Amino acid sequence: MPAEALEVAPPLTDAQVARFHQDGFVSVTAITTPEEVDLLRGIFTRLFSSKAGREQGAQFDMVGYDEDDEAPAASPQILHPVRYAPELRETRFRVNALAIARRILGPTAEPGFEHAILKPALYGAPTPWHQDEASREDPQKDYEQVSIWMPLQPVSVENGCMHFVPGSHREGVLPHRSLNDDPRIHAIECAVPIDPARVVPCPLPAGGATIHHGRTLHYAGPNESGGPRAAYVLAFRTPPRPGAGRTTGYPWMQEKCTARLARQRAARRAVSSLASRALRKVRRLFGV
Ligand code: NI
Repeated sequence: MPAEALEVAPPLTDAQVARFHQDGFVSVTAITTPEEVDLLRGIFTRLFSSKAGREQGAQFDMVGYDEDDEAPAASPQILHPVRYAPELRETRFRVNALAIARRILGPTAEPGFEHAILKPALYGAPTPWHQDEASREDPQKDYEQVSIWMPLQPVSVENGCMHFVPGSHREGVLPHRSLNDDPRIHAIECAVPIDPARVVPCPLPAGGATIHHGRTLHYAGPNESGGPRAAYVLAFRTPPRPGAGRTTGYPWMQEKCTARLARQRAARRAVSSLASRALRKVRRLFGV
């Protein structure tokens, strides 16, 4: 094993863990090396510009109707980018993020979800105020989640750094709605007004990270700078407690009818019809 693979992130100090539990978020100035940040920036530039995953509904515009493959997206996102760039599995960011997640959630925490978000130069749109848990697809599964959000260039209020409401993770899941109250748009927004006096912006160097709880209210501003703003996010979860969650899904998620979901369903249908055609062929060939 190469020596550098043995290195783990500076684990959070007791004071940082305590601050996470009190505020629902904490930030670190470095979670990986500058060399790896450069490498990741190259990978994500390629994934976004080649529209990787678009046909499968994994790449889409978070804040628009997302129907036109060629239209510039105001906030493109890729779900599970590791499926389109397997080299993302081998990063120090991943090792260090898991160590931090386990420091907060305990040793049973496992990777649960990942995504990348780009805000193009000058017109990248804001990510509305929300709690990640409000977009949970299966609310019957009850688990705790932390997300580790790493910018691939320095972030400030000008280019869309994260903002948080301290203590909001203790207030339960608030009512949300689709952005602009339009279920054709992927993004959701908190339906309760946010008190600007409680908001804390989190500027960071490239390769730093914010770490937030699944119920912490957060927002990322528009990108008004001349360069792109990209962030790579890894989320980790405790094992779900069976039967402890809600009995029904959130209404703002159940109403979704996005172009992304239509592409995802079409791609899954195509895969399953391909599989049944292959099965029929095998049966014919072998007479079973
Ligand atoms: Ni979020």
